[in-house]
Amino acid sequence: MSGHNVWTHKGTFLLAAVGSAVGLGNLWRFPYLTGENGGGAFILIYALTIFAVGIPILIAETMLGRTSRQSPIMGMRHLTKTHKTSRAWESIGWLGAVSAFLILSFYSVIAGWALHYTWLMLTGSLVGADAATISAGFDALLASPGLMTLYHTLFIAFSALIVGMGIHKGIESGLRIMMPALFVILIVVLIYGIINGDVRAAASFLFTFNIADLSLEGWLQAMGQSFFTLSLGMGAIMAYGAYMSSEASLTRTAIAVAFVDTAVAMVAGLAIFSLVFGAGLETGQGPGLMFVTLPLAFADMPFGALVGGVFFILVLGAAVSSSISLIEPVAAFLVERFDMTRPQAVTIMVVAAWAMGLLTVVSFNIWAEGTIFHTLFGRSAFDFIELLTNIFMPLGGLLIALFAGWALTQSEVMKELGTNLTWFKTWRFLVRFVGPAAVSFVFLRTIPQVEGYVIPTLGALLIVGAFALSQRLRKPAA
Ligand code: TRP
Repeated sequence: MSGHNVWTHKGTFLLAAVGSAVGLGNLWRFPYLTGENGGGAFILIYALTIFAVGIPILIAETMLGRTSRQSPIMGMRHLTKTHKTSRAWESIGWLGAVSAFLILSFYSVIAGWALHYTWLMLTGSLVGADAATISAGFDALLASPGLMTLYHTLFIAFSALIVGMGIHKGIESGLRIMMPALFVILIVVLIYGIINGDVRAAASFLFTFNIADLSLEGWLQAMGQSFFTLSLGMGAIMAYGAYMSSEASLTRTAIAVAFVDTAVAMVAGLAIFSLVFGAGLETGQGPGLMFVTLPLAFADMPFGALVGGVFFILVLGAAVSSSISLIEPVAAFLVERFDMTRPQAVTIMVVAAWAMGLLTVVSFNIWAEGTIFHTLFGRSAFDFIELLTNIFMPLGGLLIALFAGWALTQSEVMKELGTNLTWFKTWRFLVRFVGPAAVSFVFLRTIPQVEGYVIPTLGALLIVGAFALSQRLRKPAA
């Protein structure tokens, strides 16, 4: 319990949480979802959710980590004891660990694509290429399990190396170098986009809204994205919070994280859409926006290969700073619970997530449509894993909000938040009612979309299994 590490500086948690938040979600997912959902209206809902739901839950999750000063699973166990609540809340920790593991598995594969494109850009392979060539190139990457596995392996091994070196020498030092560099690159790409692209078209696409453009689907995706982008509900923020200085303000820090994360998404959107519009291309490409449309825009621009290469380095860096926060909660748990060394714990987590990632790799080729997995589950393994995380993530957020708002001793919570009564009451109202209502709304709409009962059943089994396991693990300690 004691002897738990704390970050070297008061501000490191902010740096680490921003590193976790800013990632593929901002640079890849946010622009393509906005493109698919008609621009400004989508952003409006997204921003509202970040502020009304995201920030309060971010505060709650950080607080759980900081008061318990342990990894999410052990920390939740500790809190259920000290606050005399039901042991069932411990499932928050387990759910988080499972989600982190699942997300890491596919996150690394997609980040691997960025590795491929960094290489293609910097070697000038795509200079002057036409649309057909570039989209055939992306298809060829997806068709090659070997190549995708290679990149996936490189990416996850690099992330593991950083976490394996410890929270100070690895994570803290890594972020202190990476994060400033990423911001500089982002600004360079924005300026490049303004000079070579059509920033007015981009701005009007992003910031003028017509609420009628937005389908219910778009609403839900905007809410889901606001969870994903803040890394909420899966223990990553809790694990980092465990190392947070007691002096830092939870509220101010959470607002700063959300603000920077949103600003990065907007700037990235502005830069990417400037280039896309400037090249006369379409915005509604879906996931291929970054890997097909954008390389095409760079192909015909001055210094496009160089700036494109630098852009994909930005994507990689942002993805690394996120993936390390997916490894940390599980690794810290293994160290605390089983007395492993950090390198051992990181190796176990990463090798398991790497193997799981192979399912995502083959989803695009060997097990693509028409093959066994599809026939059994009605979707690719990648879509299946993504769907699971889309259920677990809001579920985790919901439970965190309820636990912090209702189950914990509120006088203690108020002490930990260290704010005045008015803000405490506002925050508590948000986590007690607004957050749970918003999340339930997302849920009620997601679950009926799942054809058949396969996924709800598996989800329920996983949760029950986690409970059972937690009960068993408890015995020796009791
Ligand atoms: N926030 C990350 C991004 O925007 C993705 C993510 C979701 C994440 N949940 C996480 C990262 C948990 C780290 C930990 O890309």
